[in-house]
Amino acid sequence: MSEKKTGARIALIPGDGIGIDVLREAEKVLRSVGAAGGIALELKSFDYGAERFLKTGVSLPEGALEEFRTFDAILLGALGDPRIPDMRHAADILLGTRFGLDLYVNHRPVKLLAENLCPLKGRKEKDLNLVIFRENTEGLYVGMGGIFKRGTPDEIAIQEDVNTRKGVERILRYGFEFARKKGKTKLTMADKSNVLTYGHDLWQRVFTEISSEYPEVESRHLYIDALTMQMIKNPGQFEVIVTCNMFGDIITDLGAQLQGGLGIAASGNINPEGTSMFEPVHGSAPKYAGKGIANPLGAILSVQMLLDHLGFADAAARIEQVVIKSLKEGKTTRDLGGNYSTSQVGDFISRNVGA
Ligand code: NAD
Ligand code: IPM
Ligand code: MN
Repeated sequence: MSEKKTGARIALIPGDGIGIDVLREAEKVLRSVGAAGGIALELKSFDYGAERFLKTGVSLPEGALEEFRTFDAILLGALGDPRIPDMRHAADILLGTRFGLDLYVNHRPVKLLAENLCPLKGRKEKDLNLVIFRENTEGLYVGMGGIFKRGTPDEIAIQEDVNTRKGVERILRYGFEFARKKGKTKLTMADKSNVLTYGHDLWQRVFTEISSEYPEVESRHLYIDALTMQMIKNPGQFEVIVTCNMFGDIITDLGAQLQGGLGIAASGNINPEGTSMFEPVHGSAPKYAGKGIANPLGAILSVQMLLDHLGFADAAARIEQVVIKSLKEGKTTRDLGGNYSTSQVGDFISRNVGA
């Protein structure tokens, strides 16, 4: 991204449940940091989500992806509504956008911003600062398969795990390039190649090939089960982790809890050549929706990632500083031990990023 960029067009999709609550605060912070940093922002909201789907039957309208492509980035809240138990609308909107815009990198940082938030004993900020790159367009998520003899005692359910050379290669390369650019010296690839002897054999072979191109990065392989254990035992040993879609989904919730909980974890769905989408790692937590108790920091830190991605490094850094200030001063929602409401946290951050 060019350093000379002075403005950005951003699409906002609040979605469902607490997605709406946290995106309101993220938007506040975005506007405030934009005004303070002289970033001309053009924001447009899209009401894609459960409500619209239940009313009209439309989840992601025709032409939506083409419209998204005209934006510099997308900021999403969360999707999921108990009235739509099969998550059809979310599959169309969330996975539809990940696949449709070819957002093949799911970038999920796991960083301890305040030591009191870590559930592990005696860990300091320096003991937890890693980045997980989850493959985001393939694997078990492609929705290939079917059910035969449904509802009978003989029924068969098949869900295919799709791994392509192109897909595996590009996520691994992205991880190594990130390591090189950020001066990280350790990259771990996690798979289950001892059992998934076709799909993850491909991961093994491509990993060996690509890692030889990055001799300055120490490459290591771990089976995913061992990796989860090591993430708890000694997370400080990891700098960059690359894994497949399904395992990445699971270990990023684990990572979220290590940094203080789902409420504070942020992510980016990246297409390095196109429009990328940023969102908190958490879901729509329906039981908390509209109650003013959801933690908006995951969404606010997703704004940080978005701005950093677009080249507004100073504004992004400012958000992180102020988030750390709010954590240190205990100005947090109750999941992090504070007694602030969702909007009080948003107000505090937006006031301070603008100061
Ligand atoms: P969830 O992330 O919505 O919530 C799990 C628990 O984490 C909550 O009960 C709460 O205790 C805590 N939590 C999550 N976000 C929080 C926040 N911002 N502040 C405070 N606490 C928070 O996961 P779930 O309950 O498994 O799923 C609910 C719905 O969300 C489902 O429909 C699921 O499919 C969907 N979902 C969507 C996304 C997404 O849109 N990216 C991600 C995960 C789950
Ligand atoms: C996430 C979520 C999604 C996923 C669901 C809601 C489809 O859990 O973003 O981590 O599995 O990717
Ligand atoms: Mn998840």
